[in-house]
Amino acid sequence: MGVSVAKVEEAFRSYVLRYLLPMVGLSEKDTRITIPISGVKTVVRLVEPREQGADFSGIVVKIYSRKEAGRVERIMRIGRFLKKHNVYVPRILDVCKVFKRDGVIFVAEELISGESGLEVKMTPDRAKTLARSIKALHLVPTDDAEFGQLFVNNFVQEMKKRVANRIKGLNRFARIKGKKSNILKITKWLSDQMRIIRDNTSLHLIHDKLHPGNIIYSGKEDRFYLIDIETVQPGCPTKDLMQIYHETLKEDPELIEAFESVYFEEPSPLSREQMAALTPFCDAYYHLAESAINWKRHFYHLKRQRQKGDDRIKSESSFSRNARLHLDELLKLIERE
Ligand SMILES: Nc1ncnc2c1ncn2[C@@H]1O[C@H](COP(=O)(O)OP(=O)(O)O)[C@@H](O)[C@H]1O
Ligand SMILES: [Mg+2]
Repeated sequence: MGVSVAKVEEAFRSYVLRYLLPMVGLSEKDTRITIPISGVKTVVRLVEPREQGADFSGIVVKIYSRKEAGRVERIMRIGRFLKKHNVYVPRILDVCKVFKRDGVIFVAEELISGESGLEVKMTPDRAKTLARSIKALHLVPTDDAEFGQLFVNNFVQEMKKRVANRIKGLNRFARIKGKKSNILKITKWLSDQMRIIRDNTSLHLIHDKLHPGNIIYSGKEDRFYLIDIETVQPGCPTKDLMQIYHETLKEDPELIEAFESVYFEEPSPLSREQMAALTPFCDAYYHLAESAINWKRHFYHLKRQRQKGDDRIKSESSFSRNARLHLDELLKLIERE
């Protein structure tokens, strides 16, 4: 983040020891600090009690650079806004700007203890519980005066740009036979679909990055929390649902049925018909995005291997295999529609 790591560590320690721990009445020896393995954007540290006490589950400290003050402000406002509308998100406990030295910002939030979407065993009952949490986000009223101040993006315009970028990514990085004609087919189909999106998208708040690493199941409360809320914005709920169906519910029909039984119960963010109209595009976009990102990862993976002088360069990797799978799904979907 452009500042010396040692200094950030020092500032972090002093923030935790002098400020956070006294605030929750714990001492250094009662706590441990860990680094979560999921997540990539933000520097995150978990401060947890060594013994799981009754009233304190821990604190998460996210570290930002001074340049990111605007970003932090926005995350906090979104967090407060969602809490106000009873969406299950972690509470922000403190923000500390250490501008004296290199300039870092610490944001302390409530640690949700539980299992992430990557670990939790999904059952039909849990799928219903998950539906309740996501539905609460999708149902946040858009006529709240703060809504217009916080969210100004135009989802349709943004999706157009994103589609164009993903296609560019495929053009540059994909290694497939008949690349040109396949990409042409995809581009044409998606641009036809954009019209459907434009005419059918109703305004709802969505998470937009609802992968399993961004949901946590608290067994104690029997409730799913949504974390990493920076991407929350008005959009098409079906986009969130597609990602959940593929990655968290693993396309299991029984889990999806349980999820939908709650999600489409009145009051529902959208009807089954509305969802059906937008499913082809959102599903296609999901596979397009996954394929493009994995082709890119594969490209840089090969490049790193070459730089290391590795002479056993394999033309395939887990990235390219994934990229191919998603591209196949995308092409199948287009054929079907
Ligand atoms: N409030 C929280 N409670 C528990 N774990 C958290 C919390 N916030 C973040 N984490 C853990 O840290 C990881 C990264 O945090 P996240 O906010 O998703 O940042 P990133 O932008 O890096 O994805 C999460 O995947 C999760 O494992
Ligand atoms: Mg995350």
